[in-house]
Amino acid sequence: MCGIVGYTGRRRAVPVIIEGLRRLEYRGYDSAGIACALERAEECEIVRHRARGKLARLEEILEEQEIRSSCGLGHTRWATHGAPSEDNAHPHCDCSGGIVVVHNGIIENHRSLKEELAAAGHRFTSGTDTEVLAHLIEAELDNDLAAAVRAALARVEGSFALGVMWRGAPGLLVAARRHSPLVLGVGESGRHLASDIPALLPYTREVMFLNDDEMAVLTPEGIEVASLADGRPLARRTTTVEWNAAMAEKAGYKHFMLKEIFEQPEAVSNTIRGRIDPETGAVSLPEAGLDQESAATVGRIVLLACGTSWHAGLIARYWIEKWCRIPVEVDIASEFRYRSLLVDSSTLVVPISQSGETADTLAGMRRAMDLGARVVAICNVVGSTMTREAHGTVYTHAGPEIGVASTKAFTSQLAALFLLTLHLGRLRGTIELAESHRLGRALTRIPLLMEEVLDGLGDRITPLAEEFGQARDFIYLGRGINFPVALEGALKLKEISYIHAEGYPAGELKHGPIALVDREMPVLALLPRDSVYEKTFSNAEEVRARKGRLIVVGTRGDEEPLAALGRHVITVPAVTEDLYPLLLSLPLQMLAYQIANLRGCDVDQPRNLAKSVTVE
Ligand code: AGP
Repeated sequence: MCGIVGYTGRRRAVPVIIEGLRRLEYRGYDSAGIACALERAEECEIVRHRARGKLARLEEILEEQEIRSSCGLGHTRWATHGAPSEDNAHPHCDCSGGIVVVHNGIIENHRSLKEELAAAGHRFTSGTDTEVLAHLIEAELDNDLAAAVRAALARVEGSFALGVMWRGAPGLLVAARRHSPLVLGVGESGRHLASDIPALLPYTREVMFLNDDEMAVLTPEGIEVASLADGRPLARRTTTVEWNAAMAEKAGYKHFMLKEIFEQPEAVSNTIRGRIDPETGAVSLPEAGLDQESAATVGRIVLLACGTSWHAGLIARYWIEKWCRIPVEVDIASEFRYRSLLVDSSTLVVPISQSGETADTLAGMRRAMDLGARVVAICNVVGSTMTREAHGTVYTHAGPEIGVASTKAFTSQLAALFLLTLHLGRLRGTIELAESHRLGRALTRIPLLMEEVLDGLGDRITPLAEEFGQARDFIYLGRGINFPVALEGALKLKEISYIHAEGYPAGELKHGPIALVDREMPVLALLPRDSVYEKTFSNAEEVRARKGRLIVVGTRGDEEPLAALGRHVITVPAVTEDLYPLLLSLPLQMLAYQIANLRGCDVDQPRNLAKSVTVE
């Protein structure tokens, strides 16, 4: 996610803004920039400097300048639209350079707004959605910046946390937010705005939170909060922040992984936003670069990935074969890249990668492209190698994932793959419109259901973590689309707690693994009310009969029959069968997290592991 910092007051703005951006570096970024107002007489001149790469590069540029300013905006960019570059770095400005904007979020209707503004003579210099905002504000400006920002945002669809400055109003900043965090600071030397609390802590612990569809006008003397809809003033008290800087980076969570577990509803919501009509469920996925003609030529699909991303592919296979009626292979990239491949122009290859830099997945993708395959990537990092080489990319908008153990990127991959399934099924005519809309609407409800699962989940999992935290081995069982969820649960546990864990198809138990089951062996069975419930229930009974220590994860309302299997029952809300993996994964992530934490493991940086395996 991008980082925003703004300041107006008595201090020199540059060091305040740069220090604030430095406190937001943990969020991940690919470029940075700053704009400051140099006070003149009644008007001020605005200077702007931007650089690709890390903050240090921007600081080198600033060291050569003498910027005497006490009002400015800064930004670290996590690219969502437009590759990482100096031209795409924020702050963005209007044609005159008199209005500058820093933004975190996604402007969904930026294309139509850009066409309208260009037709009116506005000249654009970047490939970003954010630049449209600067020109839109300029078009609405009539000597009142706050009113112009309000009028401009009334035309915007999507998410934003915004800082705006205008040369005609020295010392004044305007802030606004919708679906993207923004916090204001009341310091002894001035007023601050930032994407997140850490940027404010060196200067103040007195903070003011903006709610969605609210705005604020900041001057060195004060902050006025107002409704974005009508400008009505809103009273707002400050809150004193008790966090230290390290806690603040994790928003008060002990680890990034725990923060990212709880960010999943927002990550999935951001991934589907603008791609599904919330009313009808209709899916729009132009970035996949597929149309009816190219979709009709697809004879086979290969989903290519490693680790958790491979598990996402295993789940997607059920969807694609069911709804698109296309044979699907899910290949581990390190195996795929060395096999004699049956890939040609009728093969659609979908590499799945959070980082977009995994060496084996890149190598497999390149081999497939050499053999004529069409490649549509699923990736979380804009401008990563995979996205620059694939024919099309469907981005997950999970934001930077800091914890080595993938959580929000995984469920965001599932959301993106389900969207791709619906899109492909409609293009090939294998999904009826009504069915596609039903499934699309079911996906739009997932973030809310995830919130329900996460609410109080930690307390429900703690007794399990305490009871099973010293286990030597673990078996995870799932059937059908939830077999890959069992694999993912086992991977989460082993990679952060170092407990040996295996995921198995529930029906496979009697073909060997049941020999492992005794009164010492914890067995977690995924048992949602789906089409294979009875079969899986029988498998769980086989475990109970051999005194296995059962944990059952099922559907809310089914607690009574599940309790007959054992005393550890966790449930999730009922959902259409296809989408259970997005909910069942959450308790498994939390169980792995709590056990690893109890065992004193380095949850965010587990031993021997890297966040992105960029070597073979
Ligand atoms: C997942 O928890 C692991 N960190 C690992 O398996 C990861 O999923 C794998 O290395 C693939 O990474 P990628 O998605 O960035 O390609």
